[in-house]
Amino acid sequence: MGYEHILVEVEPPIATVTLNRPKVLNALSPELIAELGQSLRELDADDSVRAVVLTGGAKVFAAGADIGDMAERTAVEQLSRDQTGRWAPIVAFTKPLIAAVNGYALGGGCELALMCDMIIAGDTARLGQPEINLGIIPGAGGTQRWPRTAGKYAAMEAVLTGTAITASRARELGIANKVVPAEMTIEVGKRIARQLAEKAPLALRMAKESVLRAFDSPLAEGLAAERKSFYFLFSTEDQKEGMRAFLEKRKAVFKGR
Ligand code: CAA
Repeated sequence: MGYEHILVEVEPPIATVTLNRPKVLNALSPELIAELGQSLRELDADDSVRAVVLTGGAKVFAAGADIGDMAERTAVEQLSRDQTGRWAPIVAFTKPLIAAVNGYALGGGCELALMCDMIIAGDTARLGQPEINLGIIPGAGGTQRWPRTAGKYAAMEAVLTGTAITASRARELGIANKVVPAEMTIEVGKRIARQLAEKAPLALRMAKESVLRAFDSPLAEGLAAERKSFYFLFSTEDQKEGMRAFLEKRKAVFKGR
């Protein structure tokens, strides 16, 4: 896995992907996003990996899309490069994806964190959508995922003022699952990933899919899909193993089958 803009560390049953353009605060160039997408496709296909931590390292998560790359682009160029469409593999990732956020997570960086399934915020984390100060708006889901997560008013405040929020405010708004000392962020992310890696992989996948469906389908449709996934899981060996292990008072060993 030879990447230029990210680091991928596979430590079965988990993996850690680190954004790695420190000189520009991990600005999300199209090349970086393409590598991130490719790495997640590979990790999705790797049965030894059951959960992934996404981080920018000790100091910064990501200061947003690469302004140097975008500054002189025309609308047509932006459209034809489909800059934000390149983020699709991140959203399509089927395993749990945990963001471990230290320092700035701004613009596309914040949107990237919001694409993850859980956010562990270091106490240095600053999350925000400063695009308004550049004469644009968020383009990778910020105007949609903020209101769905933090509600209309917090979303309006973030997107209209461009002011970043602290880790503890993110926790208050339900954006961050936990706030931890910055030096612990990645380790806590990994700890949670390892905990998830012990669960039944197919159930995890269905659980993630089902919760995400709540964001874009009417309740009746979401409930119907949940019910189908619930029944489907009774066709798996892991369901038999999980229930038998409970009855036999032992720890279940899940195989993803
Ligand atoms: N794109 C390109 N380069 C960036 C960058 C970005 N988003 N953010 C920071 N950098 C570069 C800086 O230009 C600087 O490079 P040089 O050393 O060559 O000058 C280097 O990273 C360090 O940055 P600063 O000197 O500015 O560091 P600071 O600590 O003083 O400030 C900051 C940090 C507040 C995060 C500031 O860098 C900043 O405001 N960055 C831009 C944040 C932003 O507007 N993000 C939104 C981008 S648009 C977007 O993301 C669209 C979308 O929805 C997809």
